[in-house]
Amino acid sequence: MKVTMEEIDDSALCDSVSSLIEGCRLPVHMSGTDDWPLAELVSLKEENGKKLYYVHYVDFNKRLDEWVGEESLDTRKVHFPRRDGGSNTGVSTPKKIHIGAGGPISRPSSPVFSNELVNGNAVLAAALQKRINRKRKGPTLENEDSQEGALQPPQGPRQSGSMVSHNDDVVTRMKNVEMIELGRHRIKPWYFAPYPQEMIGLPCIYICEFCLKYCKSRKCLERHLAKCNLRHPPGNEIYRKGNISFFEIDGRKNKGYAQNLCLLAKLFLDHKTLYYDTDPFLFYVMTVFDNRGFHIVGYFSKEKESTQDYNVACILTMPPYQRKGYGKLLIEFSYELSKFEGKTGSPEKPLSDLGLLSYRSYWAHTILEILTTLPPVGDNEKPQITINEICEMTSIKKEDVISTLQNLNLINYYKGQYIITLNKETMENHHRAMEKRLVRIDPKCLHWTPKDWGKRAKW
Ligand code: ACO
Ligand code: ZN
Repeated sequence: MKVTMEEIDDSALCDSVSSLIEGCRLPVHMSGTDDWPLAELVSLKEENGKKLYYVHYVDFNKRLDEWVGEESLDTRKVHFPRRDGGSNTGVSTPKKIHIGAGGPISRPSSPVFSNELVNGNAVLAAALQKRINRKRKGPTLENEDSQEGALQPPQGPRQSGSMVSHNDDVVTRMKNVEMIELGRHRIKPWYFAPYPQEMIGLPCIYICEFCLKYCKSRKCLERHLAKCNLRHPPGNEIYRKGNISFFEIDGRKNKGYAQNLCLLAKLFLDHKTLYYDTDPFLFYVMTVFDNRGFHIVGYFSKEKESTQDYNVACILTMPPYQRKGYGKLLIEFSYELSKFEGKTGSPEKPLSDLGLLSYRSYWAHTILEILTTLPPVGDNEKPQITINEICEMTSIKKEDVISTLQNLNLINYYKGQYIITLNKETMENHHRAMEKRLVRIDPKCLHWTPKDWGKRAKW
């Protein structure tokens, strides 16, 4: 029998595709690009007779994970997972930031999802449900009215964030919500979030932009909006300048809102797991105002008492507002609060890739602003400042000031002492960057007195 080359290639290809299992690593065509980076198979499913593969690009952030078809797999170079469950199946720390013209894109093109379960199969569904049930001791979230306070704190010691670091498993590694609608925005989620099972697999979750209640359908949201009279987040408006406001929300007093905010935020925060006990936290929600109300742009949470000097637990700018300077505005606000408290502070670790970029940028701006405006001491004397003075002026924690100076390559050892040398290029870059920061926090518009939570018997 005569066998053509084409047939040989095809059968070889089919064979290797059928032998693919979870944990395999192979080059995969990343949609929206011409690249074939190494990816790990996280899950497989079949939809309308077509096999689909959920892949994680090993050197990229998980928000770029996606479902792909066979045609996107380069099966010539497959690494199978080691039988002992060794390194190939491990989750790697993201090393590259995928920078697109429009910011951190969730996906350049849309992944294909079924109408059933986004997570693929019944086993995963069961695992997910079990996990949610384990976490939730109270009633299940079956209808929109049960959302308020329905989530119960899981057992065990309290962790240091409203979200806590977690160990990945196959369910939480995969995005499970296809789309959300929040006010006028449709947003594609980046990561897993433990929404109740009945919300998973829908084409879209509809969220009230003011109270953050989630609904299964637009009809259901419309019914809710007819009843919901909030036009701003709950809590006190503690800052307003121009159209920017900040609301302070107590995680104990407004539990339902705080839990819905954490759930929504989890869609864009990877390195934290949702934690249901919001009592120990305050939430600072930033809004922009127009004639329809105060629209949520982003938020940060903060422990009422932090033993580690954290002044931010989680921070998020909603994707439609990202890369416009709002992240730095949130960070600036968090340090303004620390200044009012007379303390230095630092964000809770670990930071995400985008979190680190934003903090580094804020720290560099703030420290350079001080260094470039220092008055000279005498006629021929160079200006002088100590690290502690920088900390006092900015409320930035000492280790962050030192790491920023090192990152900017400004510290030199000269004749037995450390000196900071500012070259022309650094100064020019700094001035250019500051010109772009048009909106700033004005401390005069902050109406807030810090509470000493330690003195209270209960939060
Ligand atoms: N690619 C490259 N640079 C980026 C990107 C990106 N995708 N996104 C932000 N940056 C840079 C900006 O260019 C800017 O740097 P510059 O001052 O040198 O120009 C800096 O990061 C901050 O930009 P902003 O516009 O002020 O910040 P943004 O509104 O985009 O918010 C944030 C930053 C909050 C980190 C946002 O990306 C986000 O919500 N990410 C998802 C959640 C997250 O990762 N949060 C931080 C977790 S760590 C923690 O919670 C303590
Ligand atoms: Zn509402």
